[in-house]
Amino acid sequence: MKKLALRIYSLFVFCGMFGYLSAQHNIENRIENMLSKMSLRQKIGQMNQVNARKPDERLYQQIRDGEVGSILNAEDPALLNQLQKIAVDESRSGIPLVFARDVIHGFKTIFPIPLGQAASFNPQIVEESSRIAAIEASENGIRWTFAPMMDISRDPRWGRIAESFGEDTYLSEAMSVAMVKGFQGNDLSNPSSIAACAKHFIGYGAAEGGRDYNISNIPERQLRNIYLPPFEAAIKDADCATIMTSFNSNNGIPLSANKFLLTDLLRNEWKFDGVVVSDWASIGIMTTQGFCEDKKDAARKAANAGMEIDMVSECFINNLEQLVKDGSVSEKTIDDAVKNILRLKYRLGLFDRPYTDLNLQSKKYAINHLHAAKKAAEESFILLKNKNDILPLGNNIKTVAIIGPMADAPHDQMGTWCFDGEKEYTQTPLNALKKQFGKNVNFIYEQTLAFSRDKDTSKFVKAVEAAKKSDAVLLFIGEESILSGEAHSLADLNLVGAQSELISELSKTSKPIITIVMAGRPLTIEKEISLSDAVLYAWHPGTMGGPAIADVLFGKSCPGGKLPVTFPRYVGQIPLYYNYERIGRPANKKEVLLNDIPLEAKQSSLGNTSYYLDAGFDALFAFGYGLSYTTFEYSNLTLPKKNLSKDDVLRINVTLKNTGKREGCEVVQLYTSDITASIAPPVKELKDFKRVTLKPGEQQIVTFDLPIQKLAFWNYEMNKVVESGKFDVMVGGNSVDLLKMRFTVD
Ligand code: BGC
Repeated sequence: MKKLALRIYSLFVFCGMFGYLSAQHNIENRIENMLSKMSLRQKIGQMNQVNARKPDERLYQQIRDGEVGSILNAEDPALLNQLQKIAVDESRSGIPLVFARDVIHGFKTIFPIPLGQAASFNPQIVEESSRIAAIEASENGIRWTFAPMMDISRDPRWGRIAESFGEDTYLSEAMSVAMVKGFQGNDLSNPSSIAACAKHFIGYGAAEGGRDYNISNIPERQLRNIYLPPFEAAIKDADCATIMTSFNSNNGIPLSANKFLLTDLLRNEWKFDGVVVSDWASIGIMTTQGFCEDKKDAARKAANAGMEIDMVSECFINNLEQLVKDGSVSEKTIDDAVKNILRLKYRLGLFDRPYTDLNLQSKKYAINHLHAAKKAAEESFILLKNKNDILPLGNNIKTVAIIGPMADAPHDQMGTWCFDGEKEYTQTPLNALKKQFGKNVNFIYEQTLAFSRDKDTSKFVKAVEAAKKSDAVLLFIGEESILSGEAHSLADLNLVGAQSELISELSKTSKPIITIVMAGRPLTIEKEISLSDAVLYAWHPGTMGGPAIADVLFGKSCPGGKLPVTFPRYVGQIPLYYNYERIGRPANKKEVLLNDIPLEAKQSSLGNTSYYLDAGFDALFAFGYGLSYTTFEYSNLTLPKKNLSKDDVLRINVTLKNTGKREGCEVVQLYTSDITASIAPPVKELKDFKRVTLKPGEQQIVTFDLPIQKLAFWNYEMNKVVESGKFDVMVGGNSVDLLKMRFTVD
């Protein structure tokens, strides 16, 4: 009986496989067939992406002439259907358009900014947020988003750090894979699935000085060890459908014409069969970069390097035909690109279902979407300080002053890159606090500063009066959403406007000050932290930020987020990240500081180490840091097996105990360190993490199984290998306070 069942099962698997393979075969045949009937001009049309914020007669005609393959920035479903009808019914090839838009952290229901989502250390939250974003966006006919952004970001001056998953490769990899899966769903042809786009390929987050659009200089080994893994995982583990090149040049070569990366690596090494799109006019700007003589030259270099869709610069549509005729670009190059574009359209099911169903019951802002957004916000918050356990606020707190420019800022709490979020739907902390806790607590609201950059201190008197009448102050400060994101780099990361003066004034009242920071990046707020009794870093938390903050402040939920990025004390410390490469003279923290140096001291360097005389040794907060309303104790780190071979799996056990008085969730972090390698290795690297919820007094043995292959890196000979030798494994609640054990790999 069992045997028969097994046979039937195998037959199913075989038929399924065969069905899949034959469907694939079928698609490839259809693509070839279609391609054979297209003129060169029509093929190049597929490689042209047009901005349709305000569609006009020119656009209609272009579509009719088969000169447009995809459109970005249109989002009215009726209009999209109208444009689609022209493509399908009036153009000679009848190939449907694909509509793209930047749906970055939500479409209508806005989730925390990606940096905040990364702080949850919970890929499930991220997958759910992008699934919901896809459901809402696809209702409008959008079937392609330009997300996730997986640029490793180690410089908070760069405004786009808000859109990233932070400084760590492993965390970014896990979050990128989750986000792609959420957008694309189980089947890309499902009308509620949208194609994801891994961006920006590559090194854009390493822009010099954190100045957006600037150059990067990342050597190949670092590219492969640090910057490329999230892209590789998005393609290989989540089947990410598209990739976007970046604006920067790396090591002198603009990424939109980098043959090594776009062809040798992406196609030949990784076997990527999706689509490569440029960033906004990034082909055209290669003339400004001094890399191309004119737009024709730019089209030639980009196409020959492996670029397939030209976003808005019109370099391709205006020049490729001539370039093929000249023999400077081969028709095969065009054919290969168009095949990939047609495959994307097939995968999206656009040939069978080109139109959007306008009669669908809308799911925008559906109750489960709002719940998910609230949960994601709660999990993204990081408790940075909690003196005398002032948080959560207890029954003894009867009157509370709500002060500051971010307490009721529905637009700004949504954060950067929210084209479609509506502030009318945003629930702010002020409203949520009153609604959820107004029965028992008397709230006094003083906005005091109209917005974060406001320098007008005339309302400080009233704020101080309100504080004096209260048992505690909830101070909402930070950055307006427009201060982070694209083209919003900052040289100074102190609080803007008169926010710092406000906290100084309020602290003179001696009332407990609970500071809630809403921002798109780490800010240098050491002074403000010292003046606060508690600090909750809430990023830009999105539509449901208010209810999430209210529940956390009053203890209905417990903060458990951890920093996905190091917080510097001073801008001058940047770049500052936990997994730096080993140096020969590391600081031992006993060195002299600025004021220890005697007058007219003689020149000396012997025995000196690497640190700043004025900033000392440490970050303000380390990667992985974050408190809870309870406390956790780590003990008993054990490795059942300490000598392993390269095919083994290292088992790691550690005991985690909730030693506090409340239930709480801890992110248990696993790091490794290669003691000696053929290149100077990083001091430590995150390799895994687990979220564990424990009741007061409860303890649990947390187990990790780390395949030794996860220790592989691109070594001296530029091979990806595990090198034999000694390693440390470290486990703890942040990247500094860790239990450690040694193991060896033969
Ligand atoms: C950004 C991309 C974005 C594109 C389309 C560019 O300016 O760098 O991240 O996807 O615009 O809006």
